[in-house]
Amino acid sequence: MYPDRVVSGMRPTGSMHLGHYHGALRNWIKMQTELPCLFFVADWHALTTHYDDPTIIERSTWEMLVDWLAAGIDPSQSTLFIQSRVPEHAELHLLLSMATPLGWLERVPTYKDQIENLANKDLATYGFLGYPLLQAADVLIYRASQVPVGEDQVPHIEMMREIARRFNYMYGKEKGFEEKAQEAVKKLGSKRAKLYNELRTEYQQHGKDDALEQAKAMLDDAQSLSMIDRERLFGYLEGSRKLILVEPQSRLTTSSRLPGLDGRKMSKSYGNAIALREDKDSVTKKIRTMPTDPARIRRSDAGDPAKCPVWQFHEVYSDQPTRDWVVKGCKSAGIGCIECKQPVIDAIIKEQEPMHERAQQYLDDPSLVRAIVADGNDVARKLAQETMRDVREAMGLAYS
Ligand code: TRP
Ligand code: SF4
Repeated sequence: MYPDRVVSGMRPTGSMHLGHYHGALRNWIKMQTELPCLFFVADWHALTTHYDDPTIIERSTWEMLVDWLAAGIDPSQSTLFIQSRVPEHAELHLLLSMATPLGWLERVPTYKDQIENLANKDLATYGFLGYPLLQAADVLIYRASQVPVGEDQVPHIEMMREIARRFNYMYGKEKGFEEKAQEAVKKLGSKRAKLYNELRTEYQQHGKDDALEQAKAMLDDAQSLSMIDRERLFGYLEGSRKLILVEPQSRLTTSSRLPGLDGRKMSKSYGNAIALREDKDSVTKKIRTMPTDPARIRRSDAGDPAKCPVWQFHEVYSDQPTRDWVVKGCKSAGIGCIECKQPVIDAIIKEQEPMHERAQQYLDDPSLVRAIVADGNDVARKLAQETMRDVREAMGLAYS
């Protein structure tokens, strides 16, 4: 009923590195060619953990946008914006908070994990507890169908689905909905009407998802329906409610994970990262000095790629013949580690070359980025305002 749309965000809490690129950005870049995408800087989310020192947020916001553009996010295909420039997110967050049980928020695994991991910060705040609910507002406000995220975020998407379902259930009641829906069924014409009723029963009584899908496809094709009737029929399929908010799906990043130089998760705070736009010499130096299989003390000692972080880089960057060369050469001490690292160095430099090129124009003229974001803010805001109109009306706040 609502158009397919992709929404995702990132927190501006530091500069971007190749781990972000392989873990998330590459997925965004792929999706922007498939569906309409909205990508935003989650500055309010950054504040939930950095409220005591927000300077990094301002700096990282613009740097991150340049990184996205450098990596290949195309502003003519994707909408780029800043969360706090679309204040409707905050309004939806507030309205959703009214009916969100505290237990849902406390149960989200990232909540306790983060409080433990960031023990040096006081995260016993109202804002931090609400983190996943603000995230729900970010997505639901665009009625997004898909959200590209990493694995750790999947419980957040699950929670948004529950929030949307509950919202539709509580506020999607329309006076005389049943009757109006049945009127709309008649407008399908007798053959389609019969099929619609059969599929609806199949789904509601036997939980057949394919019946639901088939019915939705039929509604998409039914030319004779008005927008409002179509919306009612979509809602009527799943219950007797209007669908005001859409339940989004998570789209997991499938691309291979790139660890840090020491084999742990790549993170600036571990000092094991390669920045997205790191210069060549520094890339070369970092890879040359990165640790290898500790058993290879001398050049003549055989090694095992399974115990070497360089191998994980080959898994991301090298083709099969190169990998075969590594495995054979490492296990037989036929190649040295510096030799083994060279193809990785070359591949990273090659990957980064177009990024440096694309970034240059934005570094030369920062107003370009400001303009792209100003446009994106406007586009996002219009969409958000449409949803908020329906949300306010559904919650009985549309007094005039
Ligand atoms: N919580 C996300 C992260 O840490 C960032 C984020 C904020 C986000 N709002 C979002 C991601 C909405 C997807 C959709 O990665
Ligand atoms: Fe690692 Fe390559 Fe050295 Fe083997 S040869 S230990 S895979 S760097």
